[in-house]
Amino acid sequence: MKTLIAANWKMHGNLSWVQKSAEFRALFPAKSKNISILLCPPAHMLEAMARASEGLDISVGAQNCHDQATGTYTGELSAAMVAETGATYVILGHSERRASFGDTDSWVATKTSAVQKAGLKPIVCVGESRTEREAGHAEEVVGSQLAGSIPADADGRNLVIAYEPVWAIGTGLTPTIEDIATIHDHIRGCLTTRFGAKVADKIQILYGGSVKPENAKEILALKDVAGALIGGAGLDMKSLAAIAALV
Ligand code: PGA
Repeated sequence: MKTLIAANWKMHGNLSWVQKSAEFRALFPAKSKNISILLCPPAHMLEAMARASEGLDISVGAQNCHDQATGTYTGELSAAMVAETGATYVILGHSERRASFGDTDSWVATKTSAVQKAGLKPIVCVGESRTEREAGHAEEVVGSQLAGSIPADADGRNLVIAYEPVWAIGTGLTPTIEDIATIHDHIRGCLTTRFGAKVADKIQILYGGSVKPENAKEILALKDVAGALIGGAGLDMKSLAAIAALV
């Protein structure tokens, strides 16, 4: 399985950033057998990014979508609309959306279902807050988010999970290597219960939260870490390429 190096640009950039696909390839030219690159720009860039990334073996993803196919949902995009742009992934349930835009587990579940039905691959984000970690509840919280965010009709063969501790996002803090390993192992266990070992073993579990060139090697070397979801360090193609080079 290829290691997935995914950049979540959040609400950063403008249309000139479309050239970052080519910029990345100039810095990291090998069409590596080991690595898939995914860029997740703001929605207004999706179509142009998808077009610019085509010959470069770089996938493009959205940062969210709505669960309904169409309707009176001002400001929203459906999964089919995302698919029309040429994007192939959708990040769902990012902690910033859970905190500020009303994304609950059950809404993430219906969005996941819509994304899979549209032929796209969902990246479902889970992760505990600092208080929950300090109270010793990280595993329980992540397990419950997974149970609630993966829909009953989910196809485990078309699913990516991202473990992103909320307190590690954008803070420069990361859990210890042992703590990342423990949670990823726990997630694998939850997925095995849900889908059976044959399917669960193939589900990529990414780590996200202050991943940078300085710490990526150790994190990406962990058995159950199949890639990274990168915010800040993914805005700069030099640091993204430096992370990819560590795989
Ligand atoms: P960060 O963000 O790498 O800036 O911590 C990660 C994320 O929010 O996905």
